[in-house]
Amino acid sequence: MTASRLLAGIGDVGRDRGRGGYSRHAFDPVEGELRTWFAEQAGRRGLDVETDRNGNLWAWWGAPGPDAVVTGSHLDSVPGGGAFDGPLGVVSALSAVEALRDKGFQPGKPLAVVVFAEEEGGRFGVPCLGSRLLTGSLDADRARALRDPDGVTLAEAAKRAGHDPERFGADQEALARIGKFVELHVEQGRGLIDLGSPVAVGSTVIEHGRWRFSFTGQGNHAGATLLGDRRDPMVPAAAAVAAARWVAAGVDDARATVGRLVPTPGGTNVIASTVDLWLDARVPGGDTRGLVDEIAGAARRAAEEEGCALTVTEESYSDTVRFDPALRDELDAVLGGVPALPTGAGHDAAILAGQVPAGMLYVRNPTGISHAPEEFAEESDVDEGARALSDVLARLAG
Ligand code: GLV
Ligand code: MN
Ligand code: MN
Repeated sequence: MTASRLLAGIGDVGRDRGRGGYSRHAFDPVEGELRTWFAEQAGRRGLDVETDRNGNLWAWWGAPGPDAVVTGSHLDSVPGGGAFDGPLGVVSALSAVEALRDKGFQPGKPLAVVVFAEEEGGRFGVPCLGSRLLTGSLDADRARALRDPDGVTLAEAAKRAGHDPERFGADQEALARIGKFVELHVEQGRGLIDLGSPVAVGSTVIEHGRWRFSFTGQGNHAGATLLGDRRDPMVPAAAAVAAARWVAAGVDDARATVGRLVPTPGGTNVIASTVDLWLDARVPGGDTRGLVDEIAGAARRAAEEEGCALTVTEESYSDTVRFDPALRDELDAVLGGVPALPTGAGHDAAILAGQVPAGMLYVRNPTGISHAPEEFAEESDVDEGARALSDVLARLAG
């Protein structure tokens, strides 16, 4: 079955009627439905499915590891996200395996398709949760205590979904099975439009992270409290949003985004008592923490002026990643000179890259839009990507 047809098979799962697009979050019932779908599709292709200690799904062709060739991506989304970010890598992997089987290919090494849990951090805030736990780059106690917007801890959510959060943590056994990892992903910017190519090989992922800014003031009445008597945390929060833009604008290619801001209690006629906002900052080859310090400095000055307090917490951080040069050469050799593409988006492949040879393939997105319903890939490009992945798997596992 083509990757496009497989993708169409989950087209109704997790649609978000309010926001548009899809909302598929870790350990929620929608994600559970996708996990069941994956296990069934993998089973139909003769793969043996298992769930690791951290809630990542693995589908094996041959006995698990060592020196396995692993491909895959994720099935969760950002709130109101597109159909391709994550699922494209999963359906392309399943379709590539099917094509190899149909050709009578016999892998000389174990081959696996993996689905990583909570890549977007859309529910619990930390991106690439499953791969970070697996590699030990996220402490299991910290992970278990993460809370979703409703206050449910990751441990509680995982338990409700049938996982054992006490087993979360670095999984050397699972990691040791991976010989090479290749993730196929929809392109998330204009890179491949500008290059005029349907497929690219990943070169680098820029340094990035997430910071929580918590402003505390005094909740009060919107009509009865004179401006001079207020300690309104929304005022320095607004200054932080503006500072994110002007500070980033002064640094080459830097990106700073506030996509989420939560006032408490959140009433139209209520001066908030606290405001939390999340800053996503990314600086190619630069100093992301320095950029955040500067934004935080501006926010702190605005907070003091308003009589408010500010605490800044780093919730996640990822250093610059350069994908394995030898694996990139292998991908180049198979695909015959497709372009190399750097990206501003984070990926599980970039987390794994610290521990195993990892690489990426990107498929053109003609809208140049991602993390939004307009994210897209043409069927012909999707097919081309799946074919490229199948050729790569044949070479690496042959
Ligand atoms: C994942 O798409 C990210 O936010 O980088
Ligand atoms: Mn994403
Ligand atoms: Mn993704």
